[in-house]
Amino acid sequence: MKHLLDIETADRDFLMKILESAEVFLKVLEQPSKKLPTLRGKTVLFMFMEPSTRTQSSFEVAAKRLSADTVNFSPAKSSMRKGETFLDTLYNLQAMGVDGIIVRHSSPGAAHFVAQHTKASVINAGDGAHEHPTQALLDAFTVRRHLGRLNGLKVLIVGDILHSRVARSNLFLWRMFGSEVMFSGPPTLLPGEFEGLGARIVALDDVLEDIDVLMVLRLQRERMEGPYVPSVREYRRYWGITRERLRRLPERTIILHPGPVNWGVELDWEANDRENTLILEQVRNGVAVRMAVLYHLLARTEEVG
Ligand code: NCD
Repeated sequence: MKHLLDIETADRDFLMKILESAEVFLKVLEQPSKKLPTLRGKTVLFMFMEPSTRTQSSFEVAAKRLSADTVNFSPAKSSMRKGETFLDTLYNLQAMGVDGIIVRHSSPGAAHFVAQHTKASVINAGDGAHEHPTQALLDAFTVRRHLGRLNGLKVLIVGDILHSRVARSNLFLWRMFGSEVMFSGPPTLLPGEFEGLGARIVALDDVLEDIDVLMVLRLQRERMEGPYVPSVREYRRYWGITRERLRRLPERTIILHPGPVNWGVELDWEANDRENTLILEQVRNGVAVRMAVLYHLLARTEEVG
């Protein structure tokens, strides 16, 4: 595989290899000297056209741990402000010689577009409401480390499914590995077409007592053009993982959230009192998973695991 653009069309064995290698990289990250020479001489370009805290820093740490050089392109400080097009910008940055491009953009398909116009390996770090493949991989990695498998699990994703690239990538990934995906959320934010893709649409309060993984999503207001929910209070009452709902969850149920979290809206702070709320562990594992992705796409040396 040259690129990682989505989970839907990705090769299952390739994704499995990433998860296996991430275990090795996680061990490396636990060593006092965390740096490997694997990508020495390679250059990785970050094109983040949408805000990011976790994903961008995580990719940056991952690339640096593998000794790659990193270049940050920031649209707000670039000549795009002077009218240069996205494609021209890409051609110019590529002319400097880059091996990998990590792209985040508000348009679905942006990463595919970049891949069509460059010789570099492209990694999709989120394209509109389409996909966010490395997030799904780090979610799966985190769950597998705790539950020991990826198949036969009941995964419930709750919230703003309509605007969530995380929900789509997770749906494809969990189905690929043989687990059941359920979606729950306000009807305005949960398109019926998802059932056609293989998700079961459920009422939150009907299934809470019997799920292995609960993935909570925030309301993605930046992608909303109108009022999709009457009020935050009402959202919390019907779809929020409140203190009361937390009490009904089995202890074994893993809670995940891709971040950023709006505490007190989609998830109550008390979630942090549970052992199996793994939100910061997701972030930690994200570095190892992204090291594995960079390694498999950019290194042309022997296998690490
Ligand atoms: C997600 C994203 O940007 O899609 N965040 C992330 O990458 N960790 C989810 C979100 O913004 O709600």
